[in-house]
Parts: sequence; C-alpha cells; structure tokens
Amino acid sequence: MAKWFDNAVIYQIYPKSFQDSNGDGIGDLAGIRRRIPYLVSLGINAVWLNPVFVSPQVDNGYDIANYFAIDPAMGTMADMEGLIDDLHQHGIHLIMDFVLNHTSDQHPWFQDAIADPKSIYRDYYLFAGENGKRPNNWGSFFGGSVWAPDPAGTGQSYFHLFDKHMPDLNWQNPEVRHTMGDVADFWLNKGVDGLRLDAFIHIAKADLRQDFPLAPGEKSSVVAEPFFANLPNVQAWLRPFCAQIRTDYPDTFLLGEAASANVNLAVDYTSKHNGLMDSVITFRTFADDASQVDPRIPAGMQPQPMDIPGFKQNQVTWQQTLAGVSLPVLYWNNHDMPRVATRYAKPGPLHDTQVKSLAMLMYLQRGIPVIYYGEELGMENMALPDQAAFKDLNVDDFFAQAKAAGYEDDAILTMVNATHKMPARGPMQWETGANSGFSTYQPWLDGQRDETRNARDEEAQGGSVLHFYQALIKLKKTPLFAGGDDFLQTTDDRSYVYERRLDGARALVAINLTDQPLTLAAPSAGATARLTAGTATVSGDQLTLSPFAGVVYVEEMED
Ligand code: BGC
Repeated sequence: MAKWFDNAVIYQIYPKSFQDSNGDGIGDLAGIRRRIPYLVSLGINAVWLNPVFVSPQVDNGYDIANYFAIDPAMGTMADMEGLIDDLHQHGIHLIMDFVLNHTSDQHPWFQDAIADPKSIYRDYYLFAGENGKRPNNWGSFFGGSVWAPDPAGTGQSYFHLFDKHMPDLNWQNPEVRHTMGDVADFWLNKGVDGLRLDAFIHIAKADLRQDFPLAPGEKSSVVAEPFFANLPNVQAWLRPFCAQIRTDYPDTFLLGEAASANVNLAVDYTSKHNGLMDSVITFRTFADDASQVDPRIPAGMQPQPMDIPGFKQNQVTWQQTLAGVSLPVLYWNNHDMPRVATRYAKPGPLHDTQVKSLAMLMYLQRGIPVIYYGEELGMENMALPDQAAFKDLNVDDFFAQAKAAGYEDDAILTMVNATHKMPARGPMQWETGANSGFSTYQPWLDGQRDETRNARDEEAQGGSVLHFYQALIKLKKTPLFAGGDDFLQTTDDRSYVYERRLDGARALVAINLTDQPLTLAAPSAGATARLTAGTATVSGDQLTLSPFAGVVYVEEMED
C-alpha cells in the first residue's frame, strides 16, 4: 500500500541554527513556524527536526534530560503543537529525532542511578568494573575511552559511546525498552509523522569483558565497532518497539540512522517482513580519494576529493540491492559532516553550476531526498575562529598531531573548518547584514560566513541555486522520479549518467563531472530538456555539456 513517505522530499532543520525569534542567538520553534512560507515555496513535503527536548546541550540536544518536554531555549510544548499543526495545514509532515541509545547524565534516571547504587535506575545504564579499573579498552566516538568513573565513587565505571555526559541506556533491560516505547507513543500521539531513530545500530553491546585486539602502535582505546554496532539484538529488541508503533500509528515513517551498516544489513533493517525500519540513512555511499592525504596525521580531517569510481560503485550497489526492498535515502550532507558546497564543489565561477549538478545527480535517483537547511542556497561551511570553538577531543588530538608534523595553526584550522561537522551547523543565511537575518543577537555558533549567499537575494535572482532547487524538487515529486526504476549507465569517470523508467516514461540525467566541456551520446529524439545547470547542446547524435553542467531529459512524461 502506498505511504506518504514514498514520495517524501525531506528538509532537515537544525533548530538551533534556523531562525531565532526571541533574540537570544539560539534558533527556536517559533522561528521555524515563521519560516513555513519559505518551506512551502521550496516545495518540500516533510521536515526532519534535530532534537528539541530538554537538554544541557553538551551534544546540541542529543543529550536528553527530559524526553517529554521542549528545551526552554527552543520554546514550549504549545510552540511544538503549533508547529505540528501549521506544518500539517501546509501539507508538510514532521519527522522528529528519537534518541534511544543514550540520555544526558542530567536525566533523572541517571541522577537516581548514581545517587543510590541500589536504585532501579542503576540497571537502566551500563555500570561495570571495580576498583576504578575500566572493564575494557573500547574507545568512544567522541575520543577517549567509552568508560567514565561512576560519579558516586563506587569504583565502577559507566559506558558512554559518545560524550562522557551521554551514558548509554541498557536495552537488555525490558523496562528500558518499554519506557522508550512510551516516549515514542507520547510524540506520535501529538501528531508527529515519523521518527528518525538516532544511532539505533548501537543499542546492543557485546560481552563487556573482552578487549579489542590492538594493532602495533595503536592507542590504548580503540573504537571497537564490531563490539557495539549492528549486533543481532538490535533487531530483536527493536522489532516489538516498531511493531507497536505500526499497530498504533500505521502511517508512521521509521527512518533509522545506520551510519556504518553495510548494504546487506540495510536490507535486513528495511525488509517489510522484518518489521523494523522503513528506510535507513547510511554513511557508506560516499567515497573519497585518500591518495593525496598526509599519512602522518588522521585522514578524516584532511580535505579529500571524491573518489568517482568508488562513489559510483557505492551508488549502484545500494540502488540495486535495495531495489524492491526499500527506498534509499539520498543526501549530500547533514549536521554530522561538512556541507556539500565546501566538500565537493570547487571555488570560482563554476561553483554554483557544480552545486546544482550535484543536486541533480543525487536527488533524481530512486529514493528519498534529505536536503540540509541552507544547502538549497549553496551555503558553505562557516569558518570557526579557533581550535577551542570546536569543543572536540578529536580536534584537539588532530591539532597536536598536525603540529608535531610541522603544520602551522592556520593551516590546521583551515583543514578542520573544511572537514568537521561544526562549521556545517552555522546560522541559516536569510539575508545580508546583522547575523544574516538569523537573529538580532550574536548566534550561538559564530564565525565567518559568506553572507552574499542568502535566501532573500536568491529569491530575487533568476538562475540562483535556490530557484534551481525549487525546480528540482518539483520534478522529483512527479511519478517518474518518485517511483521509476533506476539504472546507472556505464560511462567513464568524467560523467555520471543514469536513466529512470516508469511505464512508458523515461528520463535521462547526465552530469559532467569535469571542468572541461564533455561530449556524450545524445538522448532519443522525442526527449525534451526539463532542467539544466550550465549549458547542454544537442547536435546530431551528440550531447555536449559545458564544464560541470547537468541536464535532465524526459520522454513521454506523465505530469
Ligand atoms: C547524531 C549525532 C550525535 C550522535 C549521538 C548521531 O548519530 O546524528 O549528531 O552526536 O548520534 O546522539
């Protein structure tokens, strides 16, 4: 049966950075409500909101201290209910972030667990070890060990996969599973249409008594993914949770964040008969060319160009393996990675053409687009002023290693600003002038921005990136692009060419990935160009694309 999310075009809003309405420099729900006309003109039909619950903001809302209340900096429950209603009135669905792997250490459950070692909440978390000795050598995603000493001084440690202020929940405990079901029920009952299950692949852990074997020279803590990612109990524990949601709220969209899951696991997670997610977000479809990185310092914080053959292989693998199973999630960036306009588009006069062509390449494929706020303007990473602004142990580590390898501070900062997640979380650029129209006060995350790129100016400019996204989204919502089959053509590394087919209709999408003109085979005679970035000229049996250009041809289109 068709579901609303089969032709969803999702817009991701990082609420702290979208629109401030009360002049405190922090975006809020009232601000989002005010910008609904902008969302309507963009043409999206769903919003994914990063967390807005009560939180000490150690990880910008992913550290939740109360699942049933809105963080005062974002507004009130009435604002949330108003936002849900307003969005619905405009035909826009709302997907909320659902953080189920961990809480904040300020959550009353954790506070109770450390206040009294006999508390029933002790077993909501993972406490282990004795005499201050860490139970194993597993490393946290946020740097250092996954273990932190029990603040109660029992000599035990508690487990945190992310920041030490974000203790992991113990999903082995049926009470925890049950309670998280209640949290989901609370929000779905308010009319929320979907949940993005944050880091769900990590809820099950292997036997905590084993170390991860270290390679020679490796540090004392190592991110031991095989011990805490995609273990079988993830599926066993989430199946009843998902089943309950589908019984009570059958139209809910369950979108899982499965960063490191391979494509076969993605099939497991999204096959209808497995009763888990509807779709998953993977980080595995990207591919970067690491051939030029400096081997003395971590590769992840060095800018790298796209590895085009690797990227094509990943796209084909995911598209073909998920065909007939679930819709892939199509995205170029989110709050956990640099912006696409910084990561893959070259600076200079062809920057916007490249940004448009990349959008065309990605979003007209089979799957559900997720557009990250500001991406539709071609917004780039902002530049944070210094190392301290990142508040990240991994950045500190990178600075130390790069300095030891002879890099100057400025050069290191430039690398980190181009590759880190924080510069991608800058304030939405609504207009030029004070704080980009985001706030009347200094934004919570501030730095250097290119304010010439802003929504107001792009609305007024024919040919802007914003107008291109509006046209692209309109095209995406037509049946051929929402539901057709998808075939990547065999072409060399200079282009990305694919076809979509549905009944009698056919589309050809052709992108020039180079800074030189490129000649490809022309589309069939009856095809008409529906969207172009740069220029595309057909002469005889040849299609010539200007540098970085992209074009969509459609034949027998059913509108
Ligand atoms: C979110 C991150 C967050 C982490 C912990 C991730 O998957 O996208 O931003 O830091 O989960 O909640």
